[in-house]
Amino acid sequence: MNSSERKGIILAGGTGTRLFPMTKVISKQLLPVYDKPMIFYPLSTLMLSGIRDFLIITNPQDLESFKSLLGNGEEIGVNITYEIQSKPKGIAHALIVGEEFISDSQVALILGDNLFYGQGISNILKNANQKTCSSIFAYRVVDPERYGVVEFSKDFKAQSIEEKPDNPKSNFAITGIYFYDNSAVKKAKTLKTSKRGELEITDLNKLYLEENSLNVEVFNRGIAWLDTGTVDSLGEASSFIKTIEHRQGYKIGCPEEIAWRNGWIKNSQLEIIAKKNIKSGYGEYLLSLLEE
Ligand code: G1P
Repeated sequence: MNSSERKGIILAGGTGTRLFPMTKVISKQLLPVYDKPMIFYPLSTLMLSGIRDFLIITNPQDLESFKSLLGNGEEIGVNITYEIQSKPKGIAHALIVGEEFISDSQVALILGDNLFYGQGISNILKNANQKTCSSIFAYRVVDPERYGVVEFSKDFKAQSIEEKPDNPKSNFAITGIYFYDNSAVKKAKTLKTSKRGELEITDLNKLYLEENSLNVEVFNRGIAWLDTGTVDSLGEASSFIKTIEHRQGYKIGCPEEIAWRNGWIKNSQLEIIAKKNIKSGYGEYLLSLLEE
């Protein structure tokens, strides 16, 4: 793998208290979203953008579970390493935890509980990956006060970004996928802890915005950005995935399929994984790809 390529960080820490008792002994990002663990979705999203080198940041108590699930990534033709975030110190803090891993590369950061799906998304992500400037993505929601909110000018240039504002200036929430240049770590280190005790990703985005080096794109209505933060939204995300998968017969968020379609693993490697999963139907799906 080329060391100058953009690296990917998946943030899978946090305490998951809003999903208690489900997340009392298991990481939220390992809970199922329909037929696969939640982390498969953000991993797939970054793989679709072309990234092959990953750092997964977890709680100390969940590290071994993530390692048993994904190992060093070799099976799916990627490289996965792990770091611990001992306390939930914020999304921007993940960049500091990942400093050594990022080294002199550009980086994409994705929240381990964010699901993206829809028409053209893989091209949008590939473009963002190839750009040298930093990109974040906004999505229209009915409840912007729950998120980072971006205000646009008439020609859709980002004017301001605010974290969970009481009076949102728009309905556009900032989604949990961020593509940054190499200055992200240095910038993250200058941030001050917010009222909720975190290094806020919104504060980092504001630094990029002030520098005039932030590309804020909008995911259009043909794209689904799903939340899994509450019991209801987790259930809804599962139903959504089930509905589309049943109708089309394609799986959403299947890292093995993406690796195989990207030419990162051979037919024989896909077949080995398929056979290990044959009893659940996941394996049958992988085998069916070989017959396409
Ligand atoms: C975080 C960010 C927020 C962003 C959201 C996306 O919110 O702080 O800016 O819009 O993720 O999911 P949190 O999950 O920490 O409340």
